[in-house]
Amino acid sequence: MIRLTRPLTVCAVAMVLGAPALAQAQPKNDAPITVKIDAGVSGPKIDRNIFGQFAEHLGTGIYGGVWVGKDSTIPNTRGIRNDVVQALRDIKVPNVRWPGGCFADEYHWRHGIGPAENRRKTINSNWGGAVEPNTFGTDEFMDFVDQIGSEAYVSVNIGSGSVQEAAEWVEYMTADPQTTAGKERAANGHPAPYKVKYLGLGNESWSCGGAMTPDYYTSEMKRYARFVRNYNPKQTGAEAMQRIAVGPNQADPTYTEAVMASQKGHDWAWNIEGLSLHSYTTGGWPPSYSSTKFDETAYAKLVKETLGMDGLIAQHAAIMDKYDPDKKVPLVIDEWGVWLAPLENTNPGFLVQQNSLRDAIVAALNLNIFARHADRVRMTNIAQMINVLQAMILTDKDKMVLTPTYHVYKMYLPFQDATFIPVSFDAGTYVQGDIKLPRVDAVAARDTQGKLWLAVTNLDPARPASIVANLSGAKAMSARGQVLTAGRVDAVNTFEAPGVVTPKPFSAKAGHDGLKLDLPAKSIVVVQLEP
Ligand code: AHR
Repeated sequence: MIRLTRPLTVCAVAMVLGAPALAQAQPKNDAPITVKIDAGVSGPKIDRNIFGQFAEHLGTGIYGGVWVGKDSTIPNTRGIRNDVVQALRDIKVPNVRWPGGCFADEYHWRHGIGPAENRRKTINSNWGGAVEPNTFGTDEFMDFVDQIGSEAYVSVNIGSGSVQEAAEWVEYMTADPQTTAGKERAANGHPAPYKVKYLGLGNESWSCGGAMTPDYYTSEMKRYARFVRNYNPKQTGAEAMQRIAVGPNQADPTYTEAVMASQKGHDWAWNIEGLSLHSYTTGGWPPSYSSTKFDETAYAKLVKETLGMDGLIAQHAAIMDKYDPDKKVPLVIDEWGVWLAPLENTNPGFLVQQNSLRDAIVAALNLNIFARHADRVRMTNIAQMINVLQAMILTDKDKMVLTPTYHVYKMYLPFQDATFIPVSFDAGTYVQGDIKLPRVDAVAARDTQGKLWLAVTNLDPARPASIVANLSGAKAMSARGQVLTAGRVDAVNTFEAPGVVTPKPFSAKAGHDGLKLDLPAKSIVVVQLEP
């Protein structure tokens, strides 16, 4: 995705979606939708890394959102805000990608270590020209990841850095304290080597990361994959660092072809363990859709666009299959989400937007698509974690609010590392003007404790949906879980009204046809199926 070069105006469409929709009776001729769940069949593992996050030095994503400084009146632990840490712990964030984004290819890690007063202040030229104080650097990031119980996904600078700089960075993070690099880290407060589980080899090298041709990038990538070493003695076997190469921009196949062809031809000296894909739901470029006021056509267009993720994955997975039929290299969708017009009176370079029930529906639909491609898609990072784009959390000084998208991540917790179970259903049709979409979507899985879970989204903003869950290979007499909905599809949570879109208890009982779930219009339901 290309970065913003000029301020955007907020789209002034002011049509209201569906205040009366929740109250609307289900049309008489609406037959229930039968979802057949083949509980006797096990698909691939839905890797918990599919629920990863992305935190870039952009706007208030880090400064204000994560880092408030040790002397702040906002409750913090070593400068990192406690309310945000608790909220992120609650959704078991599996990994955090940092420091960017476009920022990563201009980041020089040495600016961000050592005594705070000596750190160099630089300009964040990608994002609003803000002063980057570098007070949140490597040690602070590792502390943050540790506090939220997550894994580090660090992207090194290929665009304006060097192999040596990247190699020394990972050496600083992982080397034994008896080495000079390890001693320096110990002097900065952390004698034990850090764990760097994921390493990004550049970011969007086809654009902001250096506008490299696929072949040029591939040659560079091999040098980084060879020489940037992880020295942490505990990172062997399954814990070994995974190197993730830059891959395609949306549907462009050229990086996929070049990187995968070279991976197939790799020798003992280098390898990669992931290929990145970036794809945002934007409604056109530059993004002009409002995050707070939109009509039903805009809603349907964005949902339609987001459903394109399925074809995009299938397209790149087919190329990857040519070179890697055993699916050893995962497709890592490390930037995705809705990218909308910046909120009025905000710096357009800070990418500030609200987050509505629509965005929660978009998140659920994408998570379902990722689950269906779990054999190849084993990691994703929604953009971005706090205060930027499709955020989990919004903060303003000491205030914090959880977004509808956050609630989807919490409701989907049972799907982390669960086993995919095939479902089949006739989704029906939701029609808006000349746009036709499936009315519902569903995925099922068996969690790590063996319990069965079903997630169903009714994306129709006006019509409730009656679902009959029909199981084979297991029995379900009742279902219990949560529903996320609101009176309007453009409903948002604010600091003043944080509970407009929050999950509510949901339950269902079996009738003679099977388990009947009555989904409100524009809702997401996640339930455990109980015998
Ligand atoms: O997420 C915002 C930006 O989008 C990232 O910095 C960049 O990688 C992409 O273009």
